[in-house]
Amino acid sequence: MTSVNFPEGFVWGVATSAYQIEGGSKEGGKGESIWDRFTHTRGTISDGSTGDAACDHYHRWPEDVTLMKELGIGAYRLSLSWARLLPDGWGRTAPAGIDFYSRLVDGLLRAGIEPYVTLYHWDLPQALQDKGGWPARDTAKAFMEYADLASRHLGDRVKHWMTLNEPYVSALAGHLEGRHAPGHTDIDEALAAAHHLLLGHGLAVPAIRDNCSDAQLGIVLNLGPQMAASPSEADQAAARMADGIHNRWFLDPLASRGYPEDIVHHNGRPMGFASSSDMKTIAAPLDFLGVNYYSRRIVRSEEVDEADNETPTVLQGPEATEMGWEVYPEGLFDILTRVHTDYDFPALYVTENGAAYEDEISPDGEIHDPKRVDFLRSHLTQAALATQTGVPLKGYFAWSFMDNFEWAHGYTKRFGLVYVDYETLERIPKASAAWYSRVIGTNSVID
Ligand code: FCB
Repeated sequence: MTSVNFPEGFVWGVATSAYQIEGGSKEGGKGESIWDRFTHTRGTISDGSTGDAACDHYHRWPEDVTLMKELGIGAYRLSLSWARLLPDGWGRTAPAGIDFYSRLVDGLLRAGIEPYVTLYHWDLPQALQDKGGWPARDTAKAFMEYADLASRHLGDRVKHWMTLNEPYVSALAGHLEGRHAPGHTDIDEALAAAHHLLLGHGLAVPAIRDNCSDAQLGIVLNLGPQMAASPSEADQAAARMADGIHNRWFLDPLASRGYPEDIVHHNGRPMGFASSSDMKTIAAPLDFLGVNYYSRRIVRSEEVDEADNETPTVLQGPEATEMGWEVYPEGLFDILTRVHTDYDFPALYVTENGAAYEDEISPDGEIHDPKRVDFLRSHLTQAALATQTGVPLKGYFAWSFMDNFEWAHGYTKRFGLVYVDYETLERIPKASAAWYSRVIGTNSVID
């Protein structure tokens, strides 16, 4: 039996996001968000579902907090719904929304669970979308106002704040690929959206610090190794490009390096919206970086595909999750050590990591999910290795606390440690929840 230990004080958490679990989409004066609009547009979500009711966390949060406590969870990464606090995105506030999060935070603290709050997990108020959304500069200013409001009301109790979740996905999936809200497909919109997301982040940082001087502040990026399919020069170049688009495009500006020149050149698009004073704002010092890691990407240049047909030396692993994502735990070690070496943020957290599998309730009433346990075990082992090589990794948040609305996949992909019966909304902890609970209890992964 081998055991891998974590540093003392390591933070053990679970993560969710507002639109994916809350429901109560029209309650408490909440305004419409771009995901409310998108899911009510025909053909956008694979099972035709919406987040109108989701897991009904809006009403069932006390039960959810109790369950977290029973599992021994020390920290909960949640996101706030912007339109629940500011129905139009700015100006008029919704007191019931503020009260909802205030009660939730109190409930968490009473249960001994530290709230880690993300301000933006993709659900822009529709009223701001109607005025141009993220491609418009004013949205960054509205985000600052929202950050100010949220931290003014919650900053006395919430000490860990994340501005954005995965700006890459907001900008690209939403404005170039069209598979996420608002469903647009325009490269210039995507580039402007990415910039204004980062600008909003940079404006929000001092606003939060003003309201909460002891706040630990960060941003969450989806990062992963982009590996060349072969040693050929073409594949190596393609991998470097993919790294620039996925990783460096966001890391570099946050680290005061501006946008990576090779990618600016590759895109060949006007970047007039990005002034040097913006770049200064974006590089506001942070206390930590949140890393969401799910898989690596194997990159093969088209020339190789078509011309020399070289045999790749890095093969796609045989194991994949229900999302079709390769299970590649070493990638977590790689990305954590690389980000630490190249960028040196004061602290890192794994803010999301997890896997979707086809879970079923067995005749014995239990949900046996050994593949998820294997996934978590192998990834946690890599995270522990990273801490042993000096990476300042302070905590790990499993995605997700419970099954939920998986964006364009609707309710068809189950990522939870806790199973949700969507007929009755009953929560049933899976075997992986009990396993994770033991990890937390021993601060180690025992094989
Ligand atoms: C991440 C998102 C999260 C969830 C997981 C599976 O990109 O941040 O909301 O959808 O993927």
